[in-house]
Amino acid sequence: MNFLNKMKTRYTVKKYNPQGKVSSEQILQLKEILNLSPSSINSQPWNFVFINDNQVKKELAEVSYFNKEKILDSSHLIAFQVLKNVEDFEKQIEENLPEGSINYYRTMVKPKGEIEIKSWLAHQVYLSLGILLSACADMGIDSTPMEGIETDKYDDILKNDSYETVFAVAIGERSEDDTNHPMVTTKKRLKSETVIFEV
Ligand SMILES: Cc1cc2nc3c(=O)[nH]c(=O)nc-3n(C[C@H](O)[C@H](O)[C@H](O)COP(=O)(O)O)c2cc1C
Repeated sequence: MNFLNKMKTRYTVKKYNPQGKVSSEQILQLKEILNLSPSSINSQPWNFVFINDNQVKKELAEVSYFNKEKILDSSHLIAFQVLKNVEDFEKQIEENLPEGSINYYRTMVKPKGEIEIKSWLAHQVYLSLGILLSACADMGIDSTPMEGIETDKYDDILKNDSYETVFAVAIGERSEDDTNHPMVTTKKRLKSETVIFEV
């Protein structure tokens, strides 16, 4: 199947088969793929936390509103986190990036102030979500991106001090009776003519 057809058939899974497991080889690949995500000036302000421990997964499911059952039945949960403090971010880029990139940040991003800087950092983490969802589509892994979680409670549970959770993704194998399957619930998008233009 070509990539377009894979994107046509991927969808947000609402019910997982609790027996379906993503292999450790595929998890290793996903970790490497996430680490290869592009970001503005190669800023990489993120952490990707793969939740292996079943007890921790259960605790996180409890603070995930309507997403609870999906997480419990999924194979793996991944929390996407961003650096909390702008000072920590600046230290990280000073240690890792070439002068030109640091100057771009200093002249184009930093003057906009803390709210804008934090928003810019979070944008980078969302890019990595796109990469992960596309990779899952390509690899035949089912997925559920989730903003519907209590991010502050995720932070209390995961205790990754310098980082805070932005969203999470459950991955696994769809249940046969998942009503969100496109055969049951047709995939809906705005008409291409209203979204895609050429000049
Ligand atoms: C950033 C983001 C957050 C989302 N949060 C949730 C969520 O908390 N729970 C859920 O069931 N779906 C969630 N979704 C799934 C979207 O509703 C879904 O991607 C959209 O309706 C398009 O459908 P499709 O992914 O099946 O093609 C989220 C999607 C994105 C990209």
